[in-house]
Amino acid sequence: MTGPARNHSDVCLGGFLQAVILVGGEGTRLRPLTYVTPKPMVPLFGVPFLERTLLRLKEAGVDEVILAAGYLPGAIRDHFGDGSALGLKLTYVVEETPLGTAGALRNVAEHITGPFFVLNGDVLTSLDLRQMIEFHRAKGGLGVLHLIRVDDPSPFGCVAHDADGRITHFVEKPPPGTEPTNEINAGTYLLEASVLDAIEPGKNVSIERETFPKLLASGAPLYAYTTDDYWLDVGRPEQYVQAHRDVLAGKLEIGVTKTSGVIAPSFVGEGTMIAPSAVVGPYAVLGARVRIEDNAIVRNSIVWDDVVVGTGALVEGAILASRVHVGERASIATGCVIGHDVEVEPGVSVPPDTRLNGTQAAPT
Ligand code: GDD
Ligand code: MG
Repeated sequence: MTGPARNHSDVCLGGFLQAVILVGGEGTRLRPLTYVTPKPMVPLFGVPFLERTLLRLKEAGVDEVILAAGYLPGAIRDHFGDGSALGLKLTYVVEETPLGTAGALRNVAEHITGPFFVLNGDVLTSLDLRQMIEFHRAKGGLGVLHLIRVDDPSPFGCVAHDADGRITHFVEKPPPGTEPTNEINAGTYLLEASVLDAIEPGKNVSIERETFPKLLASGAPLYAYTTDDYWLDVGRPEQYVQAHRDVLAGKLEIGVTKTSGVIAPSFVGEGTMIAPSAVVGPYAVLGARVRIEDNAIVRNSIVWDDVVVGTGALVEGAILASRVHVGERASIATGCVIGHDVEVEPGVSVPPDTRLNGTQAAPT
């Protein structure tokens, strides 16, 4: 199934390089946002999250990206098309039923011609992909996994390795207290095409729970590339808000221009209007064509396009999807995630951590 140029890293890593981005997850932890907007299209400072990932790959010399999609793929394809606007060749491979993180790779095998990057679609990081290519070249193994040290490794894949960086164990989401290490799988791999031979076709297979453990048990040389880069999985609401805070606070440089006229640091999209008596910021990120009316307060919140925050309303620590309307003197408390098109009636107080479902998209 896979192309002819297998395991010729020296040739392939010199020039042509491919990447597969896993974008087929349903984004359940980001509901109700992901009922309409698939996770890769969730905006980061008004730009779909995936766009930044694609640009990073291009900077690293990748010219062909395969998007392993499944959930709401139409929204992704409508925005990026064939990729020419970004100077990339994009190929979409859509799973009818989710194939898992390894099954999705096996499913794109016919497009893979040599060593390739694999990226989880929800990772925000400053990782230098070119240095990772150099590292792989120097090690000459079957693949390299990017690792990050975290305080609480339990919700992630834990990866143990020897002093030479050779990986000995991969344990996905170990119960708290049983983690073998605090180095976790950061969701970026550089793999030789022959890894695909270890994945059974046509089945749901997890790379974390099945393929990596199986390869390691058979003695395959996989290497750890541990860095102390900025790193965040934005797949949960708190982390999604945190990503914006971190960029505004200067912890990660992604070329965002902070807006003046509001309490810094904040960001305001095009065509957005803020009443002079309103208070916006700090850590407010407003999309395009938003309207913040008299005496309203918006702090530490992510507001998508075409939202209205009515007179005297309060939005604090929340995420509002597109076209949400917050009525006069209503309040939205910390941890709330409000879905597309929801109308919050005037004077209503939405308690902390509430998720209000809005529009749900018909799958495309
Ligand atoms: N095509 C496809 N098909 N993609 C999928 C599927 C599938 O069946 N299932 C998940 N994905 C995509 C998701 O869209 C996401 O981009 C990526 O695979 C990882 O899935 P998540 O659901 O976000 O996994 P996680 O965050 O719980 O754990 C993963 O990421 C951690 C780092 O953030 C694992 O790889 C962990 O080992 C890792 O530490
Ligand atoms: Mg994730």
